[in-house]
Amino acid sequence: MKIKNLKIHGKTFLAPLAGISNLPFRLLVKECGCAVVCSEMVSAKGIFYNSEKTLTLLSSKKEEQPLSVQLFGSDPDSMATGAKVIQDLNIASIIDINFGCSVKKIVRQGAGIALMREPKLSEIILNAVRKATDLPLTIKLRSGWDPSGQQAFEIARIAQDAGVDAIAMHPRTANQGFKGKADWHLIKDLKQQLTIPVIGNGDINSVEDAQKMIALTRCDAVMVGRAAMKNPFILSQIDDFLETGSYQIPSNYMLFRTMERLTQMYVAFFGEKPACQMLRSRLSWFVKGLPGCSAFRAKLSGINSKNHILDLINEFETSIA
Ligand SMILES: Cc1cc2nc3c(=O)[nH]c(=O)nc-3n(C[C@H](O)[C@H](O)[C@H](O)COP(=O)(O)O)c2cc1C
Repeated sequence: MKIKNLKIHGKTFLAPLAGISNLPFRLLVKECGCAVVCSEMVSAKGIFYNSEKTLTLLSSKKEEQPLSVQLFGSDPDSMATGAKVIQDLNIASIIDINFGCSVKKIVRQGAGIALMREPKLSEIILNAVRKATDLPLTIKLRSGWDPSGQQAFEIARIAQDAGVDAIAMHPRTANQGFKGKADWHLIKDLKQQLTIPVIGNGDINSVEDAQKMIALTRCDAVMVGRAAMKNPFILSQIDDFLETGSYQIPSNYMLFRTMERLTQMYVAFFGEKPACQMLRSRLSWFVKGLPGCSAFRAKLSGINSKNHILDLINEFETSIA
């Protein structure tokens, strides 16, 4: 698959996940195997005003390439500036624009899924961003404000005409949040209407789900969010399965080494105290289903240093060996 001139090796994208798909997590997923990783959404206004917090979200390392950096906003000038700054920083292989976030704070600014009911403004933003960067440009949208998908089809056509190079779709409505089921038939309909690649997203919880989505929709690639938070190997498993018909389930040994690796990278990037806070949830997602995981999770709530975490991981590994 190609997005503009960028050759993608594989069919798997780590979804943009605010608060989760930070640099250490992306590096981990990349090490586990994945074609493309996506950043957390980054505020175009934040870049425009040089906000320190926003600029931290733009931290990147060459090992994670190709990286897709996602911008959100509703002001054409700051979106164009944001895209230009990202291009000049030389951190992204792809720039993605958020047309799908349904969180109130974002919608109130007219950004995310609010853009899906503003086709004219969407067109202006997309033309401005397209003019500002020659990097591969993608958008990620939902079905829209009603379940028909008509708003998605309209925005997608506008995007394609504006020179957008691929579209990712999470087929849930604005009001659905994460409730109900993603309507994969809308991905199929979208794919039939476009000439640019379509990336299918929503409710891929297993390797087999990815295969089913591709068979149903003919999408060019799949994007996985929540399942990768629990199993960072799922993207490479999907690519292996699609290519060879089989995939490996990581041994407990690999799982524990992965947890140690994430711990080391979080502490190095965020500092020990904030890393401990974040790793309480992150590490507990990884061990779901293992015997004794509840006791391990309870112990994680008291972690206060890197060595403390590494000791707990070691103790848990020994207990189930
Ligand atoms: C914690 C969390 C944060 C998310 N942040 C973003 C984001 O920053 N940008 C975006 O486009 N979508 C975001 N999403 C939506 C996901 O990218 C994805 O579309 C959604 O989770 C459906 O895919 P899944 O079923 O594989 O999780 C987020 C989802 C979750 C659960």
